[in-house]
Amino acid sequence: MESTQPQEMDWHLARALLEWQVEMGVDECISDEPVDRFDLPVEAPKARRNQPEAPVVRQEIDASDIARQAAQGAASLEALREAMAAYEHCDLKRGARNLVFSDGNPKARVMILGEAPGRDEDREGRPFVGRAGQLLDRMLGAIGLARGAEEPEEAVYITNVLPWRPPQNRDPKPEEIAMMLPFVQRHVALVQPQVLVLMGNIACQAAMNKRGILKLRGTWAQAFGLPALPMTHPAYLLRQPQAKREAWSDLLSLRAKLEDL
Ligand code: URA
Repeated sequence: MESTQPQEMDWHLARALLEWQVEMGVDECISDEPVDRFDLPVEAPKARRNQPEAPVVRQEIDASDIARQAAQGAASLEALREAMAAYEHCDLKRGARNLVFSDGNPKARVMILGEAPGRDEDREGRPFVGRAGQLLDRMLGAIGLARGAEEPEEAVYITNVLPWRPPQNRDPKPEEIAMMLPFVQRHVALVQPQVLVLMGNIACQAAMNKRGILKLRGTWAQAFGLPALPMTHPAYLLRQPQAKREAWSDLLSLRAKLEDL
């Protein structure tokens, strides 16, 4: 492949190339020059010395345990955000532009749990700002709720299971969900909403260890000790507009629950 030398590149080209690589899933820069590993001389295997090998002491890192300790030590939302930003055990962090922590009013009665940031959220550092997020805002508006509302009665607070964008928007892996779950738990405990809305399968898997959103949606359940309503994800509704009818009935169920509580 012909390469473009740095001196021939202007800032915009360099940025476009870098963004393209990030889109392709490149998440780490390991050296300045490319290495063609097919062209390297084959090394002869090293002769084994006649000595017993020194024992290798491996320290197992329990990433969930480290997350649990970091999350439990956070006494406020700001401290939780800092603890998450300092957490180094999730590889998604390396490919992401921003930590996407939350949006909305932390005094809201309703807390929405989504899946993970997409490209727009990664750029802005705020959850649900792309097309799915705009649909979410319209859905909430239809029952008198808004992320920008100051009154807790009319407000929502929004976060995701994962705070970093998975490459190419792939599904989060079970180990990534498990690793970040202590932060989600602590997030819910600090916000203390009255109800949770679980947007899509990943949120249901994290909060209830259940999948099958098309069966779960619309039926109130319990998650993190709170009433929780699974709903189809707005990204799904964009692909399957006929499912909006059921989503509307779920929104009415949310409205009714808020009036009952
Ligand atoms: N989808 C999500 O689940 N969360 C976001 O923040 C954006 C899209």
